[in-house]
Amino acid sequence: PPVRLGDYRPPDWLVDTVHLDVQLHPTAARIRARLALRPNPEGREGSPIVLDGDELSLKSLTLDGVPLAGTAYVVTATALTLLAPPQRALTLEIETVVNPSANTKLMGLYRSSGTYCTQCEAEGFRRITYFPDRPDVLAVYTTRIEAEREEAPILLGNGNPVESGPVEGTSRHYAVWHDPWPKPCYLFALVGGRLDRIADDFVTATGKKVELGIYVEPGKTERAGYAMDALKRSMRWDEEVFGCEYDLDVFNIVAVADFNMGAMENKGLNIFNDKYVLASPQTATDADYANIETIIAHEYFHNWTGNRITCRDWFQLCLKEGLTVFRDQEFSADARSRPVKRISDVRLLKSHQFPEDAGPLAHPVRPSTYREINNFYTATVYEKGAEVVRMLKTLLGEEGFRAGMDLYLDRHDGDAATVEEFLACFADANGVDLTQFALWYAQSGTPQLAVSGTWDAATHRYRLDVAQSLPATPGQDQKQPMVIPLAIGLVGPDGRDLPLTLDDGSNAERGVLRITEPRQSFVFRDIAERPVPSLNRGFSAPVKLSSDLSTADLLFLARHDSDPFNRFDAAQTIALGHLVAASAAARAGSDVPVPDALVEALGATLADGALDPAFVAQALSIPSEADVAREIGVDVDPDAIHLARTRLRRAVSAALAPQLAATYDRHAPAGTYSPDAASAGRRALRNSCLDLLAAGGTPDALARAQVHFDTADNMTDRFFALAVLAHAAPQAREPALAAFHERFRDDPLVVDKWLALQAQIAEPEALERVRGLTRHPAFAWTNPNRVRALIGSFAGLNPTQFHRADGAGHALLADAVIDIDGRNPQLAARLLAAFKSWRSLEPGRRASAEAALRRVAAKPGLSPDASDIVGRSLE
Ligand code: ARG
Ligand code: ZN
Repeated sequence: PPVRLGDYRPPDWLVDTVHLDVQLHPTAARIRARLALRPNPEGREGSPIVLDGDELSLKSLTLDGVPLAGTAYVVTATALTLLAPPQRALTLEIETVVNPSANTKLMGLYRSSGTYCTQCEAEGFRRITYFPDRPDVLAVYTTRIEAEREEAPILLGNGNPVESGPVEGTSRHYAVWHDPWPKPCYLFALVGGRLDRIADDFVTATGKKVELGIYVEPGKTERAGYAMDALKRSMRWDEEVFGCEYDLDVFNIVAVADFNMGAMENKGLNIFNDKYVLASPQTATDADYANIETIIAHEYFHNWTGNRITCRDWFQLCLKEGLTVFRDQEFSADARSRPVKRISDVRLLKSHQFPEDAGPLAHPVRPSTYREINNFYTATVYEKGAEVVRMLKTLLGEEGFRAGMDLYLDRHDGDAATVEEFLACFADANGVDLTQFALWYAQSGTPQLAVSGTWDAATHRYRLDVAQSLPATPGQDQKQPMVIPLAIGLVGPDGRDLPLTLDDGSNAERGVLRITEPRQSFVFRDIAERPVPSLNRGFSAPVKLSSDLSTADLLFLARHDSDPFNRFDAAQTIALGHLVAASAAARAGSDVPVPDALVEALGATLADGALDPAFVAQALSIPSEADVAREIGVDVDPDAIHLARTRLRRAVSAALAPQLAATYDRHAPAGTYSPDAASAGRRALRNSCLDLLAAGGTPDALARAQVHFDTADNMTDRFFALAVLAHAAPQAREPALAAFHERFRDDPLVVDKWLALQAQIAEPEALERVRGLTRHPAFAWTNPNRVRALIGSFAGLNPTQFHRADGAGHALLADAVIDIDGRNPQLAARLLAAFKSWRSLEPGRRASAEAALRRVAAKPGLSPDASDIVGRSLE
């Protein structure tokens, strides 16, 4: 049965302290848990004690030291219930045994390449011991970990180290950790293994010294330096920008090779997918470095937004995730180029969240019901959740936002809080009413804004008419108008912004219009010449905007808008408009000419020496096939889109070849590789030029790509050139792929890039190639990174081949999901979400997608995770 937000009740029993004694063993780890419980004054009187459990073997159970009679409790597959416990403070001692080696779900206690580690969010702690596994039960944990010294010389827990030493007369040793901060069990973690460490320290704003450690597989410490640097910068930034200081004596990060997600913010002991820790110039791209910086920051920032203030229940997930993504975005914006960061964040939002909002898996930023919480770690909760926080800042201004944050951090420290409580802090600190704003958390779907402008030459007035609407989404037929902060500018003929003086003198504070009604008009005065409106500057609201801007207006903005985001977006809008028309033409067997304005806009951007290279690289990107599919929305034919996009890239390449070549040459690498933003920006621009040049397919361009590949001295350039060769130069493809594999065969994270690239080749052979690679020795169905690299890239990034007209791509994913589901349901459910836009396909492909989904649905013993996704997808 689904869980519903409205059914929330406080826990009947609270846990004050937890003492764990964990005996690590490959197949029979023994966990003794001593829980100090007491009835919750806010709970129901006389309640049984119900503790969650999953795949546990119960060995013993005592209450206040006395073994419990078999009639006093009931054990099922999901719970241990004490039927009539004394209604007072009491102590339970529970002994369970689990098998870490057989734990292929990678939830609870498992082994990754011989290292013991844990993952408890959302509901994994119940796979370690019986416990009220819900985020509003906060306890103080002490953990003793014992293991064979040979097998696990390193033993780590939450909080501060207390003591450690040998277990006399044995080959074992132990360590005790104590975490003074009450926390929910999803933040529990332990690690035991043979790991190398890099150490550093950090002195906090109030002068406390924190020992920092990053633990990695033996021999890989050199690759952890960048993560350590990012960690120290994150710690400083959070003090300076949010006043958040670290609160333990140590902070440890452990990188593991088998991990279902990116990383996890366990108190004082973050555990990471090693892909987001390990980097060296030879093995990681600039994008990898940027991801590491952001994710290290993200997990660290959870220490306050997530850990010190946690969530009352899992419906409130965005309370920590949306806010923490917003914080990591701001950190990266400060560390790098703010406009470029905004462009890439918005591209991510549009490519991952917009389709979610437009399809059968649409859900509010704060869902009101779920069957499987693990399926709600989504782009909507994370990325749209961050946009909602960003809008709050746009509406309240820098100072008002900070006042609200300060109040939140102060008022709710130590709490398991709700979205309402979060919003109340901003309302109280600013004396405003956020009732309508709260709809952003409750209504799913992407709002649509239609904007048109009229200039009156006689009165020097300019009027903007704005209409908002929100399409129906699953479970939500009726929608209410939202409050939408629309940042705008009116750009005069000389490219300068005109003053935004409204007719009634109100409402354009900081250039932001507040849209609150279904239809609204804004009249600006003293506008002596016809301006071009620059709308939704900086993407101030996560909406789909349509306007009456002409191609000439867009070209003007692409060249002159003072807002870098809209400068970027104007050219993208021209390109997207063309690609939609050209896709329809391609489907009908014809072609449409490429608009001169687009070539002109791209050429002008290339020629503008004042622009940041990283920005130019973004501006040169042609909207992806998925972008075009989303824009078309119904009856999508991926082959037609691919043809239209290929033609456009070839035309742009032909028109701009000399300029592209000159820009490429001007950005030749100088000196040794450094991952800093400026150097990365130069590489990005040079590589974008190479990519567009190669899209022309000329011998000169392909020769350039080959030289680029052969002479690269870092992974960014080497891998980019490999991708260009693999996509654009079929005759150079195999030798280049083979050389790359030979060089990096012992490096799983690099092999992942090799797998992912091959899965994305937009040719019919891709399917057999992917099948073949599943049998390659480098591939392993049990490792989530391998599976996501090969199968995830095929389903998510190769639209023509995944959506093959013969249905073989859909069938491949269904087969993979059915196979994976038996071992790792979370991974299976993630892959299955690649069908999220299946209803927008043309009828033939829609039928094969539906057949694939139905085949998965029919699998006997399908996991709750996968069946939740297929169920909602087919509803
Ligand atoms: N809290 C983690 C993070 O955002 C992610 C945990 C994901 N858990 C899951 N069950 N999918 O950093
Ligand atoms: Zn997070």
